[in-house]
Amino acid sequence: MSFIIGCRLPVLRKNQVNEDEWPLAEILSVKDILGKKLYYVHYIDFNKRLDEWVTPDRLDIKKLQFPKKEAKTPMKDGLPGSRPSSPERDVTASATSRGKTLPTPVQMIPAHSFLPINLHRHSHVLMFHIILADSTLLSQDSQDSSDGIPSAPRMTGSLVSDRSHDDIVTRMKNIDCIELGRHRLKPWYFSPYPQELTSLLILYLCEFCLKYLKSLKCLQRHLTKCNLRHPPGNEIYRKGTISFFEIDGRKNKAYSQNLCLLAKCFLDHKTLYYDTDPFLFYVMTEYDSKGFHIVGYFSKEKESTEDYNVACILTLPPYQRRGYGKLLIEFSYELSKVEGKTGTPEKPLSDLGLLSYRSYWSQTILEILMDLKSENGERPQITINEISEITSVKKEDVISTLQYLNLINYYKGQYILTLSEDIVEGHERAMQKRHLRIDPKCLHFTPKDWSKRGKW
Ligand code: ACO
Ligand code: ZN
Repeated sequence: MSFIIGCRLPVLRKNQVNEDEWPLAEILSVKDILGKKLYYVHYIDFNKRLDEWVTPDRLDIKKLQFPKKEAKTPMKDGLPGSRPSSPERDVTASATSRGKTLPTPVQMIPAHSFLPINLHRHSHVLMFHIILADSTLLSQDSQDSSDGIPSAPRMTGSLVSDRSHDDIVTRMKNIDCIELGRHRLKPWYFSPYPQELTSLLILYLCEFCLKYLKSLKCLQRHLTKCNLRHPPGNEIYRKGTISFFEIDGRKNKAYSQNLCLLAKCFLDHKTLYYDTDPFLFYVMTEYDSKGFHIVGYFSKEKESTEDYNVACILTLPPYQRRGYGKLLIEFSYELSKVEGKTGTPEKPLSDLGLLSYRSYWSQTILEILMDLKSENGERPQITINEISEITSVKKEDVISTLQYLNLINYYKGQYILTLSEDIVEGHERAMQKRHLRIDPKCLHFTPKDWSKRGKW
């Protein structure tokens, strides 16, 4: 069997509920192992992290499609015929389930729902109205700042968003498995570890200094010399077993570069950029008797002209979907609060990044709105600016979240936020599940004014 790279055909895979399905996939590479062929496939409508090597019996050769000629012209967002950042289908469904990928048109509310009471029954739904005391609001395209659509390449992050190097090599995962402390990690994407390490079955990392080693023996030898039991830098937060360390990308270059290499394994839409000097790294750890184990991190530019308060953010896979991502996000906004600034994550966001930010923004804003008290029987009032100042969430992200939640209504020249019973109950349920929270009292952080320092 000989296939042309770039051909498409249905390939057998198991879906999330372990059922067989045959999604269309593109063949990116072929290799021969002991006379047996393996094919590296990208499932067209799925995120690249699901790309994998498959045996020939999983290919539906009868339905093979040859590459179309016009597909060879470079596309805006990567390679011909590929959708490098297409979310997993289940994720897409939940990300857009409310259909809020575009600004929601402002809706009129019937007059009878404006009785001078705060809680009001309307169409069997309990409504809570808040006056949004902004006279102009929705003229700007607030989606631009917070959706996951890739923007033009920019050299602004330690892992810079730039697809121009997205060739056949960097499109494929190159590291099979990473051992990090007690975890084995399966990388999702390419990471520029030295070429000679890519043929290893397992790449070993020192879980404390993140140095990479080619064998268990080398790691054991390293561990006899490496004294670190926590990330370098200052511990600026500790509550219970959770700590945050602040690491200067200039002072701890080796650690920062090793962290970027590890992070790249799980970040697709960014290209590694070796100059870590302009960044700070905030590493979150969980403590046990053996030391402070890395759970996740985010990087942050020392100075951002675009109000970015996060460049890259990652929860290591063994810790994902347990609330640590939102804990990292919450921490990033606590830093912004101490700085007296509003902030926003660097764009583009990944599919999972968008889900996590959406969830954090929604919960944070709803918390504020539901705490508003009415005075003298009047409906409570708040402005976008006030929400932004209290939360440190940039104005554009506040607006896009209110639109995403479909809270904004317009009536007689006034914007009204309508909190339905569903919204209130959903929010209360979600908050009961949100156990991991940052305690600002445990944060010991003094921001530096990097602009006064000449060089970082
Ligand atoms: N499928 C569906 N929903 C998901 C998934 C998933 N695989 N992962 C997270 N979510 C949702 C959760 O349901 C949760 O929402 P909810 O509380 O309303 O239910 C929300 O996202 C956050 O979940 P957490 O458990 O707090 O987040 P987690 O620890 O999993 O970390 C993160 C989220 C950091 C985005 C993680 O998925 C990750 O590291 N991904 C790889 C790197 C990446 O994409 N980073 C963001 C890039 S954008 C940037 O760097 C600025
Ligand atoms: Zn070490």
